[in-house]
Amino acid sequence: MRKVGLDIEELELKLDAQISNDCDFNSGFILGSMCTEPLEFTREIYARYLHINVGDKGISPCTAKIEKKLISDIARLFHGTNIVGNFTSGGTEGNIIAIRIARKYKVNVKKPQIIVSEAAHLSFEKLADLIGVKIVKAKLNPDLTLDINDVRTKINKNTIGLVGIAGTTGLGLIDPISELGEIAEEKDLYLHVDAAFGGFILPFMLELGYSIPKWDFSVKGVNSITADPHKMGMGIIPAGTFLIRNDEILEKLTFLIPYLAGGAFHHFNLTGTRPGAAIIAFWATYNYLGMEGYKKIVQKCLENTQFLKNRITEIKGVKLRTEPQLNVIGLTMEDNSDISKIYQELKKQAWRLGEFKELNFLRIVCMPHVKREHLERFCQNLESILKKN
Ligand SMILES: Cc1ncc(COP(=O)(O)O)c(C=O)c1O
Repeated sequence: MRKVGLDIEELELKLDAQISNDCDFNSGFILGSMCTEPLEFTREIYARYLHINVGDKGISPCTAKIEKKLISDIARLFHGTNIVGNFTSGGTEGNIIAIRIARKYKVNVKKPQIIVSEAAHLSFEKLADLIGVKIVKAKLNPDLTLDINDVRTKINKNTIGLVGIAGTTGLGLIDPISELGEIAEEKDLYLHVDAAFGGFILPFMLELGYSIPKWDFSVKGVNSITADPHKMGMGIIPAGTFLIRNDEILEKLTFLIPYLAGGAFHHFNLTGTRPGAAIIAFWATYNYLGMEGYKKIVQKCLENTQFLKNRITEIKGVKLRTEPQLNVIGLTMEDNSDISKIYQELKKQAWRLGEFKELNFLRIVCMPHVKREHLERFCQNLESILKKN
């Protein structure tokens, strides 16, 4: 640590130099992220309220009220009534909370297991280690969607819950949540839906007239949902949500924090201190955009996805890994050879994509910051790399 601190001018210069190599969403090179550039006005709101800790509701009762109202608004968007929940730090935390609850429902099961798809996010590996629940992976169909029959065959006396994904991390695919709901009801299992990515795109696609299978609280067997404002919701990082149908179990799972400045409060989040600014900024964004605003953003993302899909089919040497359902595209080699070399070349040319080695594809997410011209530039670069290789 410095003995004497820097003056602000010098500090800003140093900071600029240190941060200059971080990628910028507006550069157009970030094609593999599920986060995006927030609206300018949302940034301002965030900055205005960044001192608020909603972990201490007694000193931030107004923010706590906004959080409660926002959770019930989001629940309504997901066709739920009498839903409770909280903002979280993101999809990982939401998934951990869900499986902790599933575990508590079935404390008598000595070797608890949950069934997730092979395409589940790595947060399930993390939580398995944390909670002591075994993750059993159900197979994928040839089109990389979840094989529901394999889920059925994997259920045994140790199974405590199922997970459905509404918008997989790699390819943005939607699991058959209605079928999972039926199985969960029949076998008395907890069903959690990981809609960290899909939660803030599917309701708007439905409104736009896309045919969307049921994935939310409209499926009776669904107990809880994780959906992240900081992905397709245009929220500021960190902003996730966890929503649950039955608050009784939640109450039993809380920890009383007795010493807070605002009084004693019950917590079920993993984090104690929580950023009120992320909630307020999302409240502002949600109300500013409204249904029409979100529909416009989503429509643009889907049009760009369609554009990229068409361009990829024109490029010799590559193909789609599978048919996209949302604004996520998997790119692979036409002859199924390893795409890593092309990935490395693209990386050298500043492109930032996600590589999914096991299924041999590169992920492109047509987020709101991704423009048509970025995709065209990407395709041209890709074509020239393919010609040289
Ligand atoms: C489907 C899904 N679930 C959970 C997560 C984890 O979210 P976070 O990184 O916000 O913890 C992701 C991240 O991309 C995701 O795609």
